[in-house]
Amino acid sequence: MAEAQARQRGGNTDDGSASAQKGVRYEVDGEIATITLDRPEKRNAQTFATWSELARIGENLPEQVRVVVVKGEGPSFSAGIDLRTFTSEGVPGQGSFSSVAADGDTGFEQRIRQAQAGFLWLRRPEIVSIAAVQGHAIGAGFQLALACDLRIVAEDVSFCMKEPALGLVPDLTGTKPLVELVGLAKAIDICLTARTVHAEEAMRIGLAERVVAGGDLDQAVKDKAAQLLSTNRDAAVATKRLLQGAQARTLEEQSVAEGIEQAARIKALFGRSG
Ligand code: ACO
Repeated sequence: MAEAQARQRGGNTDDGSASAQKGVRYEVDGEIATITLDRPEKRNAQTFATWSELARIGENLPEQVRVVVVKGEGPSFSAGIDLRTFTSEGVPGQGSFSSVAADGDTGFEQRIRQAQAGFLWLRRPEIVSIAAVQGHAIGAGFQLALACDLRIVAEDVSFCMKEPALGLVPDLTGTKPLVELVGLAKAIDICLTARTVHAEEAMRIGLAERVVAGGDLDQAVKDKAAQLLSTNRDAAVATKRLLQGAQARTLEEQSVAEGIEQAARIKALFGRSG
């Protein structure tokens, strides 16, 4: 029944059932995909399986999707990596840091690259990703929020980059977006103290686009998705590509890039067919 409804809306539940077994819910409704971390009883702690599932969703994202919402069920967005990973027993079926370390440098780095693949696709130009963040976003949870283009947060949000406190570095793609959002000094402060950033500061330093009451989070994300869908799809993709490349280019190079993208737009909109 749910499957039929999803199909009617232009969505699919094909990936949904596979995702659910990995503590992730995944739904596609027309142009909007929603990924929900769904282990609220463990504060949506993440495992290697979570990351491979995120990567799988990214690889199979239907072409029609323009907005991807990432959210967490329950009181916390995500309490970060599953702490069982630090124990010798590890997460059943997924090993532990000790077992991964025993793989040797190459195996370990490859494992990290695989985990990062779950995060990197959220920045593709073809989509805009929105993290809907309530409660704790710790470590890998903070980095998942940083992997998204936009963050809309609830008043009770608390971001914490806990990795350095545990002897680790943030390695799930979070360091670059953090520096780009808040600047180097603030990023050093946040990471090297592992302190908590609450809603007011998140808004002030550019980590959050909007702060809303907890009960209004879903609606605020829906409203943002509707705004994003109101612009021309191809122009949005080209514009995101331009904005993403802006920092690495000089003004002159960026101007050239704008011209190239615009020429393609004008051709597509006004070029003679045939
Ligand atoms: N891994 C595994 N289980 C977790 C995690 C986690 N990261 N976080 C919470 N849980 C479990 C708890 O063990 C508890 O399980 P139980 O009910 O079986 O005892 C359940 O989730 C609820 O946790 P509470 O601590 O009772 O919930 P509370 O809302 O009071 O606190 C908080 C939430 C602050 C997130 C707390 O659980 C916490 O500090 N968790 C650990 C955070 C952490 O250090 N993460 C690693 C960051 S580093 C990285 O991600 C690379």
